[in-house]
Amino acid sequence: MTDESLLELTQRWHRASALLAACADVLAERPGVEPPGWAARRGWVDFLSGLDAPTVARCEAHGLAGDAAVSGAPADLRALVVEGAEVCRLPALAGAGDGAPTHRVKARKRRQIAAFAAAVADLPARRVVDVGAGHGHLTRHLVEALGVEGLGLEREPAHVDTARALAARSAARFDAVDLFASPPTLGPHDLVVGLHACGALTDRLVVQAAEAGAAVAYASCCLQKRPEAARRPLVTDGPLGEQALPKALLGLGNINIGPRGVEASHAENVAARGQRMALRALLQGRGLELGPGDEMHGINRRRAHDAFADFVAFVLARRGLPAASAAELRHFEAMGHAQHAAARRWSLARRWLGRVIEVQINCDRALYLQRRGYRVALGALWPIAISPRNVGVIARRP
Ligand SMILES: C[S@@+](CC[C@H](N)C(=O)[O-])C[C@H]1O[C@@H](n2cnc3c(N)ncnc32)[C@H](O)[C@@H]1O
Repeated sequence: MTDESLLELTQRWHRASALLAACADVLAERPGVEPPGWAARRGWVDFLSGLDAPTVARCEAHGLAGDAAVSGAPADLRALVVEGAEVCRLPALAGAGDGAPTHRVKARKRRQIAAFAAAVADLPARRVVDVGAGHGHLTRHLVEALGVEGLGLEREPAHVDTARALAARSAARFDAVDLFASPPTLGPHDLVVGLHACGALTDRLVVQAAEAGAAVAYASCCLQKRPEAARRPLVTDGPLGEQALPKALLGLGNINIGPRGVEASHAENVAARGQRMALRALLQGRGLELGPGDEMHGINRRRAHDAFADFVAFVLARRGLPAASAAELRHFEAMGHAQHAAARRWSLARRWLGRVIEVQINCDRALYLQRRGYRVALGALWPIAISPRNVGVIARRP
């Protein structure tokens, strides 16, 4: 583990915050089929509309900075892209690690657990407290790998039952608890961990661990999952001040980067977005008024990966609407895919800013700990190919 010096972390936080402040107009306007106002005002329309489909796909999967297309971009866009790439280039926090549990643990999760354990191996702890423990795979592994007590805290009773069953021969214990309602009692000899403890849970983990002087290690994800409508920063004397980021922007921090998504390939995710747009067009064609994202209200997003006819049949049935005819399906599928092809290029800048949001928020958390006397490392816990949600913080009191 390498400590990030005060200057490096503060600089990263400051530069990420300044970049988001400079791109407030891009973040404020969700793009549709037509060129967004910011693209016109900034003089980026010709460049973005001139990108061919394979270049758009490459830029979606790998970001703009690595692509030759960026060399032809307007200078101010190129500068922002280069700055974003710089701010988001994170040090690796640990090696691959080994020995993670195999029983009922998927290969990608296993590699995350092994890397996580390697990153915390030298943190002093008598007890691991795992928040949002799920099925307790990380809790079990850390209890064994570090030779400490372990307590997994999880809101879903069914998950806790599974965790207890899997831990029958382990010293790990599990409690069913809503951590927002009942914060855990922590002490300075605890190591508080969260492997993709979503959104507000990680913010609370950081604050509560700091109050107790406990060591902290987490991998960030799903910043938008929180009871409140927006996230207030923990550190407020930077370029964004006390500005709270609304859920719609926090959701950008969950964007898929790299050739693979979390559950599907990039191409499959792109196709699913086209299907959602086609569904939206079909529902609007039926006279429904929809706010942003409303077409999927109450629908598991995985449904958008089904064949279009099955996807639409499911949604219409859920809404109590008559089934679609073959002609209606054909018409709106073609329309949705054409709209999606046009909208993709306008979404590139927000996609790329999504990673900056993710890094900025984790800098905010890390800086909060550093200002309370922690030695802090912020970086990538594992390669993006294992999971793009790889931004982690490891922090201990000296
Ligand atoms: C993305 S899952 C991660 C699970 C596990 N750490 C893993 O990596 O497999 C997040 C977990 O946090 C739990 N969770 C979310 N909010 C919670 C809360 N307020 N109190 C306790 N658990 C919560 C969820 O039920 C879910 O199991």
